Parts: sequence; structure tokens; C-alpha cells
Amino acid sequence: MTTARGVGCGKVILLGEHSVVHGRPALAAGLSRGATAEVSASTDGLTRARFVFDTAEVDVLASQDADHSLGRALAALLATYTEPPPMQLTVRLELPAGAGLGASAAMGVAVSAALDQHLGVARTPEERATQTLAWERVFHGNPSGVDNTMAAVGGVAFFTRGQPLEPVRVRRPLVLVIGHSGEASETKLMVGLVAQQLEREPKRIGELFDAIAALVRNGRLAVEAGDLRALGQLMDMNHGLLSALMLSTPRLEDLCHAAREAGALGAKVTGAGGGGCMFALAA
Ligand code: MEV
Repeated sequence: MTTARGVGCGKVILLGEHSVVHGRPALAAGLSRGATAEVSASTDGLTRARFVFDTAEVDVLASQDADHSLGRALAALLATYTEPPPMQLTVRLELPAGAGLGASAAMGVAVSAALDQHLGVARTPEERATQTLAWERVFHGNPSGVDNTMAAVGGVAFFTRGQPLEPVRVRRPLVLVIGHSGEASETKLMVGLVAQQLEREPKRIGELFDAIAALVRNGRLAVEAGDLRALGQLMDMNHGLLSALMLSTPRLEDLCHAAREAGALGAKVTGAGGGGCMFALAA
């Protein structure tokens, strides 16, 4: 029996999470670690998948009525194919889940790449990014698309919702140290909390998003110029604005302070916040 394989990468949002949901740009980087998927023909007429995490394994049937969101996400992705045959999948995650590193998107992209190989479908990374939005919506409700786009395309890029991705040339390597708070980060919940703040105070929160957008544009210039000191300062400022949106926690604050005291050029929450990861830019 032949086995098709696919990979998807995790991501760090260098600058611009949350405001990117509301049409502002973000600067993001793909991680070399992510998820892998294997697909082979199913022998029992059903499409099922085993998801292997560091601490657990989850078996699901692909169905839009599945109890587990992974089963519903798989059904949503399969619905983008014409009459897919029954298949057996194994998906391995190499990142912590629910930590702001794009684990769900990495899995979706890995599954899509393996399904395409198994079914003989040719697709560009950008087309895969569009396709896997169906998967991401199951988990995140209103995803901007930055996670699945970075999972499919990788590298460093300037992302604006609904616009073609703009790859960014990195003048000097970015050495990032990622710290996990040990707290779970729930993207859907945190995106909902920010949307509520925007609804209550559209002017103030809109201006805050515009301020983040300015940091993102300057961050792109800093990356292109190899000005790591400037990028670090922009990260610190972005972290302050994310804290103002109540997306940091005492633990994440401690990690950011510890990184800066140890000589990091900047440190910030990455992803949805409220827990999950921060990262620091090393000199
Ligand atoms: C999550 O990694 C990034 C958020 O901006 C949500 C999104 O863009 O869909 C918080």
C-alpha cells in the first residue's frame, strides 16, 4: 500500500496579531517545526485519522457532526475535494498545541499536502493557504488566514487579510527564543474578547490597531535593513499594545522581562495570547 506524505510549518507572529483579524497587516515567520501527515487508502470504507500529540493520541472519523473538532476540520477539508475516496491518515504534531505557534494550521496544511499527493492534485503553496482556511475556521471561527498561509508558504512575510502574501527579504538572520508560559491559549476566545473591545470602543481600539499596523510596516523595513535593534524595540512596543488589549498574563510578563534582562533586543507575546508563548529576539 503506498503512503503519501505532507508537511506544514508552525509560525511566530513577529508583529501584528489580532489587529490582522481586523484588516491590518502582520509580519510573520514560519518555523522549521510543525506537523507531518501520512495518507493511505482505507480498507473499511471510512475516512479516519489518528492525531499524535506529545502527550496524547486522538482517533477521529471525518464527519461534520464529529464530536471532536479535528474530525469536523478533516471533513471540512475533504469537502474541498470532489468525491474523495475513503482514506486512513496519521498526523504528528511537533509543536505544543494551543500555544500560539500555529499548531492547528500546521496540521491542516500537512493533511492537505498529503491528501493532494495521495489524490494526484497539484496545488501551489498559496492555493493551499486558501484551501486550508476551511480547516482553520473549525477551530478559530474568524481566522485572518495568517497561520495557515505561513504554514503553507513559510519564510518571513508581510500578510494582509485577503491580499496576496508579500515575502520579506531577511537581511540578517533572526535568532528567536520561544518561551512557553505553560498556560493554554485559546485563539477563538481571545479573538472574541478583542472583537468585543472593538465593538464597545471602536475609536480607541481602531486607533490602537492602526498603531500596531505602523509598527508592522516599520518592522518590515527593519527586517529588510537587518536592523535587529529597531525590530526589538518595535516588538516591545507591540507587546505593550497587546497588554493594553489584556492579552498578556503575569507569567508571560515575567518571561518577557527575564528575556530583556538577559540581553534580548525585544520580547513579546506571539499568537492569540492570554497564555501560550512569548518570544525574544536574540542579539
Ligand atoms: C493567531 O495565531 C493570530 C491571531 O491574530 C488570529 C488570526 O489572525 O486569525 C490572534
